[in-house]
Amino acid sequence: MNLTLKIWRQANADAEGKMVNYSISDVSPDMSFLEMMDMHNEQLIAKGEDPVAFDHDCREGICGMCSMFINGEAHGPDRLVTTCQLHMRKFKDGDTITIEPFRANAFPVVKDLAVDRSAFDRIQQAGGFVSVNTSGNTQDANAIPIDKHDADKAFDAATCIGCGACVASCKNASAMLFVSAKVSQYSLLPQGKVEATDRVLNMVKQMDEEGFGNCTNTGACEVECPKGISLENIARMNNEYLSATLKA
Ligand code: SF4
Ligand code: FES
Repeated sequence: MNLTLKIWRQANADAEGKMVNYSISDVSPDMSFLEMMDMHNEQLIAKGEDPVAFDHDCREGICGMCSMFINGEAHGPDRLVTTCQLHMRKFKDGDTITIEPFRANAFPVVKDLAVDRSAFDRIQQAGGFVSVNTSGNTQDANAIPIDKHDADKAFDAATCIGCGACVASCKNASAMLFVSAKVSQYSLLPQGKVEATDRVLNMVKQMDEEGFGNCTNTGACEVECPKGISLENIARMNNEYLSATLKA
């Protein structure tokens, strides 16, 4: 396949960025999108040009690093996959592919397609954990009965990989899908109920301080989420938040 790539190039956070056109040939339909990007970078390096910076790590849909906006969609045109799981057979010979970073005020560009998503880390640190009693008298987790329905919902919420596609897809740059997944994965389990009130208040406070927008129920986040995190989590978090404010 022969393709035209229109890629956002930005030297650093303060520099002005712009779209730059490149041609790439002999792309195999069996390549992953990131393998195509690697091939393109090798060609740039061979010409003495600066390779395109982009984040990646696991390349198997687990780490959430490979955040790119491809042809106007977070993680590209496929559904329930990350950019690293996207294959070039989703495109046609002669296509022009537009590749941009995830855009949100709370995700400043570091360079080219790499953005700083440490805002998510700070939200997680504000409450996305369960404190464990290490006195030696800790109850075996397997001895606590958990309703199968709740366990399944908690597990579904826990599959959020923190990629940020929900933020990039949202017209308000809202992080509600991410935060609600993290709140839900604990609030549904008995181990998470101990700190539930503080957790939801602190995580929502941090989310607001980081500059993410609010949710207006558009649902783009759910459509673009590579892990199929449901909007139901946002409803659950709003419920948890209301209960917590009444208790606090
Ligand atoms: S909710 Fe989905 S889109 Fe948002 S960070 Fe988690 S996995 Fe990514
Ligand atoms: S590189 Fe880890 S999810 Fe894509």
